Amino acid sequence: MAKVTVSTLAKKKREGTKITALTAYDASFAKLFYDNGVDIVLVGDSLGMVLQGGDDTLAVTTTDIAYHTRCVRAGSKELFVIADMPFMSYANPAQACENAATLMRSGANMVKLEGGEWLLDSIRMLTQQGIPVCGHLGLTPQSVNVFGGFKIQGRKEEQAEQMIADAIALEQAGAQLLVVECIPSALAKRISEALSIPVIGIGAGKDTDGQILVMHDLVGISAGYIPKFSKNFLAETGNMPAAVEKFCTDVKSGAFPSQEHEFN
Ligand code: KIV
Ligand code: NA
Repeated sequence: MAKVTVSTLAKKKREGTKITALTAYDASFAKLFYDNGVDIVLVGDSLGMVLQGGDDTLAVTTTDIAYHTRCVRAGSKELFVIADMPFMSYANPAQACENAATLMRSGANMVKLEGGEWLLDSIRMLTQQGIPVCGHLGLTPQSVNVFGGFKIQGRKEEQAEQMIADAIALEQAGAQLLVVECIPSALAKRISEALSIPVIGIGAGKDTDGQILVMHDLVGISAGYIPKFSKNFLAETGNMPAAVEKFCTDVKSGAFPSQEHEFN
């Protein structure tokens, strides 16, 4: 597979080729995903839930993400790896730079931060220092206590307009990718059309430029429950490489996500 970079991801958006992404936390899965056609692996702070067994992502530290980023990088030199910046690791631009540097030195190609306009100074500073940034809007799990639970975001028109404005501002500040999580499909479509950078969705319908899933959801083994927007690809394929390949094929063909996985 040709090496994935911010340039090849931007090209996919221009050409209308869907981008495929999965979370991974170790070398074996990172290699499996790379070998079976996944474009991006995210070392997500979802590891606080699926690996550490927490109820949310708040306990995760930069040290945790750095460790798993090194594990993932060890699985493949070629893979495009995004590392999540955990809760409170980017409260100001200086902190964001210091912690992002740790993640880049651990093998990340890009870091992901949750939030809107309050992040603009940090994003400018990170990109100026040579650190590519992925934004994350919608249901941003680090704010679960502000939201009062893991709830769909952007259903009210006022919220939707704010999210579109935030997305545009993130791109203008230098973000090169955006994740949107658990928002109405129509809003995700509007955001994807408004931006020139690729928009990757999870629980955001089929009209984004790509899809991401937590790997435990892909194979139906998440502790707790399988979210509505996810699908157990292992159940229908019977083995791991085929499940990963099917995910990629279905994302590219538009077969996944289908209406049953969407929020309206
Ligand atoms: O932590 C994570 O796995 C994520 C994805 C759900 C986008 O942020
Ligand atoms: Na995350």
